[in-house]
Amino acid sequence: MNNVGLEVGTFLGKGVTQGVRGTRDFYPEDMRLRNWLFDNFNDAALLHGFDEYDAPVLEHEELYTRKQGEEITQQLYNFEDKGERKVALRPEMTPSLARMVMARAGALPLPIKWFSIPQCWRYERTQRGRGREHYQWNVDIWGSSELSADAELISILVTFFEGVGLTSDDIVIRISSRKVLEEVLGSLGVEGNIFAKTCIIVDKMDKLSADIISQQLAGLGHASNTIETIQKVLGIKDMADLSNALDVESLAVSELKILFDSIDSYGISEWVEFDASVVRGLAYYTGSVFEAHDREGKFRAICGGGRYDKLLSTLGGKDLPATGFGFGDMVIMELLAEKKLLPELISSTEDIVIPLSPELRNAAVMVATELRDRGRTVDLVLEDKKMKWAFKHAERIGADRLVMVMPEEWKSKKVRIKDLHTGEESDVSIEEL
Ligand code: HAM
Repeated sequence: MNNVGLEVGTFLGKGVTQGVRGTRDFYPEDMRLRNWLFDNFNDAALLHGFDEYDAPVLEHEELYTRKQGEEITQQLYNFEDKGERKVALRPEMTPSLARMVMARAGALPLPIKWFSIPQCWRYERTQRGRGREHYQWNVDIWGSSELSADAELISILVTFFEGVGLTSDDIVIRISSRKVLEEVLGSLGVEGNIFAKTCIIVDKMDKLSADIISQQLAGLGHASNTIETIQKVLGIKDMADLSNALDVESLAVSELKILFDSIDSYGISEWVEFDASVVRGLAYYTGSVFEAHDREGKFRAICGGGRYDKLLSTLGGKDLPATGFGFGDMVIMELLAEKKLLPELISSTEDIVIPLSPELRNAAVMVATELRDRGRTVDLVLEDKKMKWAFKHAERIGADRLVMVMPEEWKSKKVRIKDLHTGEESDVSIEEL
């Protein structure tokens, strides 16, 4: 044992400086960037009148045991707690939000417009833009079946993108509706719970070969002509072609038209595109679905969301229309780094107070306290340090002023201030600080 009580051999074992695979440490410089990103997330949501909420990272496992073959349910961090309860680290926020809404069913004034930035956990194969934990900005509207709610979410996304300096030349938000596939399958006589499973398979179209997708669809019981039709319709990238492919009375087409019109009235049409291949990989979506991508297609989806009007009944509640999106912190940071849009952030310390002899330490405490009382952010030098060190330190953290407590000056209750931007020095009394 060393003098702080750690058993060195067992605790500080090999590899302990590395966290668990797929997780990240946030050193102060990373934390400044993360806070900057989160501020931008918060600003976009607050600007649209949304309220922030939160929930625990640990949930009942059964909140996620959906059986439609979604990847997310196979990536669960789950275990039994000491009370033999089956629990899981949340892989996404939507079920927790659903639980919260259900718990206050009838008591919450509708519509609910809420946002949050939860940490989510998924046992994924770690790769660029994908970790085993990530922070996911969630923005959701509950209690409105209007497509104007879906359009409002797109506006929040665009507000965020513009806020961090991205333009519609960098980003495209691809939009479709699950009703497209639902109607196509319906016209071929395919109905029921095979629909969600079909969506989950076709969502992997850009990752798996057409043959494998066909095999998996056949495995669900789809006939070969159905599979061909599905693949043809999902290749449509134009609303006019979609109208031709679907019934004249198609609800999917009329809803998408309303949605694109509404987006147009925000003046943000250049950010969006219709793309029938967007279906999303989660079982619960029922209507509009969307994903944002970098236009160059270098990265994975930046964010994704859609309408999920039937989630509550799958959890044993009464359905309430809902729409929302999840937006991870990883892909966007990589994209912003590539586009050189990450700001250079320095520490927020304004003043550094340094005593220039050991006897002046208490005087330095008084000066620092006085400055802090007046709202200045102050880094108090706690050890005996040389001026050379203080200048280097000030430069490193980007402080505005160095406040030196010096023997002669302190006798007349004055301190020497160096303005670190202009280099000017002056002696001032504490009152004048
Ligand atoms: P999702 O598509 O699974 O949707 O995730 C949304 C976003 O979270 C992704 O587009 C990506 O930015 C980020 N993300 C997901 N998994 C990872 C990972 N392993 N590493 C890094 N980033 C990741 C949902 O989770 C839905 N619950 C979103 C939603 C909210 N739909 C309606 N409301």
